Amino acid sequence: MSTAFHAGNGKIAVPDILARKSLSSFPNSSASKIVCLTAYDFPTARLLDEAGVDVILVGDSVGMVVLGHENTLPVTLEEMLHHTRAVRRGVRRSLLVADMPYGSYHIDIAESLRHAMRFVKEAGAEAVKVEGGERRVELIARLVEAEIPVMGHVGLTPQSVNALGGFRVQGKTAEAAERLLRDARAVEAAGAFSIVLESIPRELAAQITRELRIPTIGIGAGPECDGQILVLHDMIGLGMGHTPKFARQYANVADTISRAVSEYAADVRSGQFPSDEESFHLSAEARERVLTARRG
Ligand code: KIV
Repeated sequence: MSTAFHAGNGKIAVPDILARKSLSSFPNSSASKIVCLTAYDFPTARLLDEAGVDVILVGDSVGMVVLGHENTLPVTLEEMLHHTRAVRRGVRRSLLVADMPYGSYHIDIAESLRHAMRFVKEAGAEAVKVEGGERRVELIARLVEAEIPVMGHVGLTPQSVNALGGFRVQGKTAEAAERLLRDARAVEAAGAFSIVLESIPRELAAQITRELRIPTIGIGAGPECDGQILVLHDMIGLGMGHTPKFARQYANVADTISRAVSEYAADVRSGQFPSDEESFHLSAEARERVLTARRG
């Protein structure tokens, strides 16, 4: 993975992500594409960071792929802080972004600011992500004013699942596409440093990417975006529910875990685990005393 786009110790910061925008307009300059993935715990965060992922998002998708909920709505602020702290311990180089969960930025601006600051002060997040377009303009501007970089998120916004009537592709009609364009422009004008485009037609994502000065990060939005993000569990084959069509699977970790657990269970039941080499031993002297004491 290239480190050409960040200076010094290689740590990726918000300005490095913004700088990729100008580079990604060069055709065939695939090195400038922004590589993003979700992580929810220390070991996967460490692996992603060491593999050169640019942006690690502690997504509220944790509610679905780790906590077993049907959607992201039940995820709490405390749960997101807990997972963000764990990820922070595994991340050295990547930019760490935390998702603000449903209900944590929907009541009033002051409370939303307090919640966002907890991600920065208590969990070590370097930016937060909020869902929504024009209606988030004031919130985004106030967060940025408070020195908290913001990643926007428009299109299929999972926290709107009830209002949208399901996890459906957005922006398919001309009117819906124009609304989405307005949303994306509003997020940029409010001061966000990047924007996630989720489940929208490729042509629309390409148009938004051309128009905006901030990088677009696609998920189900085609290849023209400035970067891509996937839910880690979908791309490693550990998603237990429905996997969306855009989530290419690069590994089958569920299969690997199932096979390992079956082999372990068989070895325990047959007495083949643990072996003598996997056991601890008394010294000759201690053995003698213990065995003698038992006989006596
Ligand atoms: O929660 C999440 O993982 C997300 C990404 C899919 C963008 O919002």
